[in-house]
Amino acid sequence: MPDNYQAILHSAMTAAQAGGHVLQRYWHDGIELRDKSEFGGKTYDLVSDADLESQEVIARSIANDYPDHELLGEEDLTGDITAEHLWVIDPLDGTNNFAHHIGHFAVSIGYFVDGVPTVGVVHNPISGDTYTATRGGGAFRNSQPIRVTNADHLSKSMVGCGFYYDRGDMMRSTLAAIEEFFSHDIHGIRRFGTAALDLCAVASGQFGAFFEYKLSPWDFAAGQLIVREAGGIVTNAKGDPLGLTQSSVLAASTAIHPHALAITKKHHP
Ligand code: IPD
Ligand code: CA
Ligand code: CA
Repeated sequence: MPDNYQAILHSAMTAAQAGGHVLQRYWHDGIELRDKSEFGGKTYDLVSDADLESQEVIARSIANDYPDHELLGEEDLTGDITAEHLWVIDPLDGTNNFAHHIGHFAVSIGYFVDGVPTVGVVHNPISGDTYTATRGGGAFRNSQPIRVTNADHLSKSMVGCGFYYDRGDMMRSTLAAIEEFFSHDIHGIRRFGTAALDLCAVASGQFGAFFEYKLSPWDFAAGQLIVREAGGIVTNAKGDPLGLTQSSVLAASTAIHPHALAITKKHHP
């Protein structure tokens, strides 16, 4: 692995810790929520000063180390996705959990070289867990190597899922897929509320598979590399390669991916 990936990883971890400190402060002091986008006149997509300030300190930290690199982030950070060096940032993945005082959320930072996922960091400031990966260098939780599950079939798996904010067709497709997963005798379904950590749950063998029918690049930028480096497969939920635009996502161990794909593809909205 080129040395500079280590330098980039160090930079990404420093930035993620800085964002995490901001989130910890707001977690203790409280936040004021605002609605972010509308779905049929109703609002479920929230944003707070915690999201904005976390992104600000992360962006400052990365720009300080790499002033020429492009930054793409959820809170209106509009980096060029075709750039040679691109950082993709979710300053708070799991805002809804945060808003309801559920201590399961994360900072997610992915670094791409010419569109290729190269470094990923997902940091949960409440548990203190930090998941990392570099391309070709393996995946780790708190510096300990992690691997996807050894289970070779859905019937031995826990499956994670997520719901996009839409409560229409996409929600119904997700529910239909969940029902079909249950018909394969899975051990259970979990919806933890942060896609970045859901992907890390696949990487560390807790989930046999995870799917969601619509995610943004900052949700999966880091987690996709962490899963692959832990020996898993990540595609969209139809089995195609993931890009840097909004997409469905399916992550699973190599053995489980084809079985999960048959279900997520069938119900894909
Ligand atoms: C959300 C979380 C959630 C997923 C949503 C995402 P946010 O990100 O990852 O688990 O189901 O689709 O938008 O809005 O909390 O950063
Ligand atoms: Ca997110
Ligand atoms: Ca977010």
